Amino acid sequence: MFRRRPDAPAAAAVAVTVEGREVRVPAGASAAAAMLLAGLTRETAVRGTTRAPYCLMGVCFDCLAEIDGVPNRQSCMVTVAPGMRIARQRGKRAV
Ligand code: FES
Repeated sequence: MFRRRPDAPAAAAVAVTVEGREVRVPAGASAAAAMLLAGLTRETAVRGTTRAPYCLMGVCFDCLAEIDGVPNRQSCMVTVAPGMRIARQRGKRAV
């Protein structure tokens, strides 16, 4: 789905865990990018409809994820860090 431009400079990779699977993400990328690289989406709280990151700038909330055990995070606004654990958001979470 997403590919780096062939002429893009090589970036250092950061290893994160997405739903228990190691994914290598370019340094400086967002947790939403890691989810997209892993091919994962989230499900809406009420109907369970599939959603994927859309705006990638903190507006639409379609990228909600659980990051390092904290639910309801806008994954597009979180920069990956080594060892970060990312999981899909399923259903409602307490606020
Ligand atoms: S993708 Fe829209 S808020 Fe994150």
